[in-house]
Amino acid sequence: MPVSCVPAGSAWGRKTLAFESELGAFIGAPEVVTVNSCTSALFLALLVEGIGPGDEVIVPSLTWCATANAALYLGATPVFCDVDPYSMCVTPQTVAAKVTGRTRAVVVVHYGGYAVDVEALRASLPADVILVEDAAHALGAMYANGRPVGASGHTVCFSFYANKNVSTAEGGALALFDSGKAERLRCLRMNGLESHAWSRYIRPSVAFSADVTELGYKANFTDLQAAIGRVQLSRLPEMAHVRLIIAEHYRECLDALGIGVTFQQGVFDKSHARHLLVIRFDSAKTTIRRDDLLLALRARNIGASVHYRPLHRQPLYSAQGVSCLPVTESLADAIMTLPISARMTLADVDYVVENLACLLNHEKVLQ
Ligand SMILES: Cc1ncc(COP(=O)(O)O)c(C=O)c1O
Repeated sequence: MPVSCVPAGSAWGRKTLAFESELGAFIGAPEVVTVNSCTSALFLALLVEGIGPGDEVIVPSLTWCATANAALYLGATPVFCDVDPYSMCVTPQTVAAKVTGRTRAVVVVHYGGYAVDVEALRASLPADVILVEDAAHALGAMYANGRPVGASGHTVCFSFYANKNVSTAEGGALALFDSGKAERLRCLRMNGLESHAWSRYIRPSVAFSADVTELGYKANFTDLQAAIGRVQLSRLPEMAHVRLIIAEHYRECLDALGIGVTFQQGVFDKSHARHLLVIRFDSAKTTIRRDDLLLALRARNIGASVHYRPLHRQPLYSAQGVSCLPVTESLADAIMTLPISARMTLADVDYVVENLACLLNHEKVLQ
């Protein structure tokens, strides 16, 4: 009887393939390529488009550094654009203000889980400018046309990092419609092996030989992550429902306080993934500095945070001397992210709001 070195039905990527196919079905994309992070996904998405030195890639400044770093890894120049004050996301106008003859790509960020209208943006861009979507926050969100984020036909990058709505501790994926690009991405994520390395193991008729055809990376996903991801994905509707209840309770409690807080546009809509619950303070109604408030909340074991310190203010990028991002500048010191997760309870929300109210009122008394 022939002896197979393939453990029946378990290892060698079968769970990864199943996760990719379930994720593809969930978002309506024919090709899903899992990778080890969204950072890798963004980098590989730009790499397969041939982005390189001399090219400009427009990205919002209000994002995590991975969005812009992807361009920098390839020797291209990230060009920061402004965002809309209400959605806190890029618009056709804020992008258009930064388009030059050297613009090769735009990386849209679905900030917080708000789905940018990429059809409108695509229509406003020169035909040869590539659109890539950073959907690290937006699994489960829906575009203006009602389709899930990931089903646009662009290359859409997801994160499954520990704090994301679907988590595999670390991990990421690219969703796309182009099977040729997907095949190249499968090669690039696996050291540049000419074909899907796992399939060599899975199909006993094919002898394993590693044909390294180009300079690839060690950026693959694992079955261990996929096993977690499959369960997480199946629970996404249930977890999204809890996030909505949590967000609505915050709104009710904060509205009752009348402390001049506004939420990100669309955050209570069905189309929003509610990865982040971002609020903006009305400076006329509060006297305490946002950062002091954050520190005080943290001292009370409340994980409030800021997303993000704009990239054009980060030491890595500030030397670039970006000008004219007035909305990003105004948001930078006024926004705060409230804790939200599928494991929170309404009592947790009450605790956060009570402390927020107490700190804001106390500070007012001191003035
Ligand atoms: C907007 C955005 N893009 C990209 C990333 C990178 O994701 P990962 O940690 O999976 O590399 C993050 C991470 O939080 C993010 O917030």
